[in-house]
Amino acid sequence: MRNPWDADHYDKKLRYVSEMGKGVVSLLDPKPGEAILDLGCGTGDLTHEMATSGAIVVGIDLSQAMIQQARNKYPHLQFAVGNGENFRIDTTFDAVFSNAALHWMKHPSRVIACVWNALSPGGRFVAEFGGKGNVETVIGALERALDELGLTSQEKHPWYFPSIGEYTTRLEKQGFQTTYAIHFDRPTVLPDGDQGLEHWLNGFAGSYLQGLDQPTRHCVMRRTKELSRPRLYKNGQWHVDYKRLRIAAVKP
Ligand code: BEZ
Repeated sequence: MRNPWDADHYDKKLRYVSEMGKGVVSLLDPKPGEAILDLGCGTGDLTHEMATSGAIVVGIDLSQAMIQQARNKYPHLQFAVGNGENFRIDTTFDAVFSNAALHWMKHPSRVIACVWNALSPGGRFVAEFGGKGNVETVIGALERALDELGLTSQEKHPWYFPSIGEYTTRLEKQGFQTTYAIHFDRPTVLPDGDQGLEHWLNGFAGSYLQGLDQPTRHCVMRRTKELSRPRLYKNGQWHVDYKRLRIAAVKP
């Protein structure tokens, strides 16, 4: 069984996650000398990207493996293991940034409260993550493939994909002023041709595949691909039906 966060697999096969997050860095517009927290920093590529603007960036991630890889790649930057739903840092930040991480945190109000506590007054929170309907073709296919084998797929869904209305309501309940919110389709082309969806499932869908022996796992993968193919496979590449929620908010 693959480690839930295999940092090498992430860097080799899933590096488009950070590549596609560069637009979120542009929305944040980091300035020299600003203190920024990168929440769910993975292996640190966007932490590094923000630091090149002269900001002082700290990356945190729940995965020890990801943090170790981030430290190896960017030894001059500061990284720490930390839980986005339950972190407290002895300093405050001008901004909290997060790309493709908040959908892994199923207690959003706890995350939002931690972000609030981490920000100085006037600080901004800029994030992008999966929104309502994200990757629903793949999830539907995966759940059907499991159901067909009599394997329950219920309660294995590991993600939180809210609508704009739901998420901005939570932000405002905490006291944030939402300054920007958009929910948009971002079909995502996976590298590695036909193998791309397997890499995606191996990297991200561990909670569905955990505990399956190798032949069963193989069978579920094959059936998931077969069911997804008519909608998502075009010209030799998988185009996964990502839907993003991108927000900016300010702590008054
Ligand atoms: C996402 O970035 O939207 C995502 C990545 C992996 C699994 C589910 C969603």
